[in-house]
Amino acid sequence: DWTMAAFRQQAVEAIRKQVGKGRVICGLSGGVDSSVAAVLIHEAIGEQLTCIFVDHGLLREGEAEQVVELFRGHYNIPLVHRDASHLFLGELALLEEPELKRKTIGRLFIDVFEEEAKKIGGADFLAQGTLYPDVIESVSFTGGPSVTIKSHHNVGGLPERMRMKLVEPLRELFKDEVRALGRELGLPERMVRRHPFPGPGLAIRVMGDIDKEKLDILRKADAIYLQEIENAGLYDAIWQAFAVLLPVRTVGVMGDARTYDRVCALRAVTSTDGMTADFFPFPMDFLGRVSTRIVNEVRGINRVVYDVTSKPPGTIEWE
Ligand code: XMP
Repeated sequence: DWTMAAFRQQAVEAIRKQVGKGRVICGLSGGVDSSVAAVLIHEAIGEQLTCIFVDHGLLREGEAEQVVELFRGHYNIPLVHRDASHLFLGELALLEEPELKRKTIGRLFIDVFEEEAKKIGGADFLAQGTLYPDVIESVSFTGGPSVTIKSHHNVGGLPERMRMKLVEPLRELFKDEVRALGRELGLPERMVRRHPFPGPGLAIRVMGDIDKEKLDILRKADAIYLQEIENAGLYDAIWQAFAVLLPVRTVGVMGDARTYDRVCALRAVTSTDGMTADFFPFPMDFLGRVSTRIVNEVRGINRVVYDVTSKPPGTIEWE
């Protein structure tokens, strides 16, 4: 794609010009945006870049390992991997309210990130994978408390406190363009295709208060759901798909025994920018297959429901 090749070249030059001989740190989340930003910046300034991956313990199955393997193993980009899951889960225990969860995660994230940045001697620049829709959405989010629907912690917070200049090479791009740039940069297809994933991770997909046991149950259900979506060849037709663990227990029957376990809700939507979305019309036999697998294979879940709400009036995430 010649336009992306040109963009890549221009962006590399702009980064070199902005950064000079300065040092840059980049926070990785495991998602497409921060990964593409990091690889692009690494191409521009090499070892002047260090990546910091704050692992909050709220990622999906195998995700943390994939980030480390991609950056250390594949790209050989300097990477600090801080496993802070105990800290996060400890502070989140008993919190039920979604905004309280988000704010707590955002605060801890900044604390840990800052701590790790200090350990490596700080930097002159902070790199972020901010996209054009993030720029617009964060503007509307500052329009006053009455219009804040969800406070996203991946935009803002860090820069003011750490007094670093921002490097945001993706600021003018939409998601599909970032994916094209990722391909241009040779990122693995499984990374480039990846659905968006919220900064607070699975904390906002376990409804109400969270703990390790619930997170593990959700991880298993989510992995089965995504695997079936892949098998059915539907992954790329969907904007986001994920499982949600509900705080409700219902009665079921397994063999000849009574069960009294949790409900898992499945969500899948189509969208172009996350601002509006339609629920994805899965074939019924697909939903049946996923439901059977989850109930048979995941201990702790005995009922599966599918969310058929579009946005608006629903949001994509349940919290
Ligand atoms: P909603 O649920 O508001 O989500 O329809 C729109 C898009 O934003 C993602 N999302 C978040 N991303 N921090 C993030 O980084 C958050 O707190 C957050 N909440 C929602 C959501 O996954 C969807 O892509």
